[in-house]
Amino acid sequence: MNDQQVVAITGGGSGIGLELVRVFGKAGYGVAALVRNELQEASLRREFEDRIEIVVGDVCEHAVNQKLVKQAVDRFGRLDCFIANAGIWDYMLSIEEPWEKFGPSFDEIFTINVKSYFSGVSAALPELKKTRGSVVVTASVSSYAVGGGGSCYMASKHAVLGMVKALAYELAPHVRVNGVAPGGTVTSLTGPASAGYDKHVMKDMPGIDEMINGLTPLGFAAKPEDVVAPYLMLASREQGKFITGTVISIDGGMALGRK
Ligand SMILES: NC(=O)c1ccc[n+]([C@@H]2O[C@H](COP(=O)([O-])OP(=O)(O)OC[C@H]3O[C@@H](n4cnc5c(N)ncnc54)[C@H](O)[C@@H]3O)[C@@H](O)[C@H]2O)c1
Repeated sequence: MNDQQVVAITGGGSGIGLELVRVFGKAGYGVAALVRNELQEASLRREFEDRIEIVVGDVCEHAVNQKLVKQAVDRFGRLDCFIANAGIWDYMLSIEEPWEKFGPSFDEIFTINVKSYFSGVSAALPELKKTRGSVVVTASVSSYAVGGGGSCYMASKHAVLGMVKALAYELAPHVRVNGVAPGGTVTSLTGPASAGYDKHVMKDMPGIDEMINGLTPLGFAAKPEDVVAPYLMLASREQGKFITGTVISIDGGMALGRK
């Protein structure tokens, strides 16, 4: 078997996922990235040319996750790590909104932020078992603390925490399962189309920097490059080999509360 490590990453077209594509590539991994649309694909092609494998599609479709895994293995010969990272935010959606808005938004957020993670793991598992590989998922400061989103987003990221623990237990000793919980990071995070938030972009929200700075004891909003180091450690066979069922927070202290 070829000994180059191989990673598949969802949400690789922007933000934290794009930075993961960069750092795993620099670390020598073969990288397969799932992106949402042709615009993201073209931008990745400009940056990485033919060095990475790219799949375009909707992470909610199981066939798309299967395609991502297949293309990774066809191109690089194996899969060592699956990173479930694609996600949307809820733009502080309130339960006081009409149910006609809240209910479909809930479904959309949970389908992307939770169910697609399970779909990705299910698709990757046969390959990860062959390599005794691992899963890393993007959780959030909202897996622990209020203030970084509304109840829907917060519930979805708490679900991710439960998923990490339960799957780490179920899949041991064959496959390790861990997560990373970033805090406020300036990205193009969008929201549910059901609430009309799919064209909203977090980094363009008036006052977003001040909001994050105020919620973060270290006093600044992260850039994607500030939050990716734990993914590399958790994926690493050497550094991560005794770690499973853990979520590493990298949030400037946000889960501690306001200073
Ligand atoms: N930005 C933050 O402050 C922050 C904090 C904690 C956790 N997170 C989490 O980090 C992860 C990455 O978000 P980000 O901040 O980098 O924002 P981002 O919008 O740049 O990245 C999310 C990516 O997921 C993709 N995506 C969304 N829905 C999809 C779908 N149905 N099919 C395929 N791809 C889809 C988007 O196109 C985008 O490229 C998310 O899970 C998010 O919840 C973000």
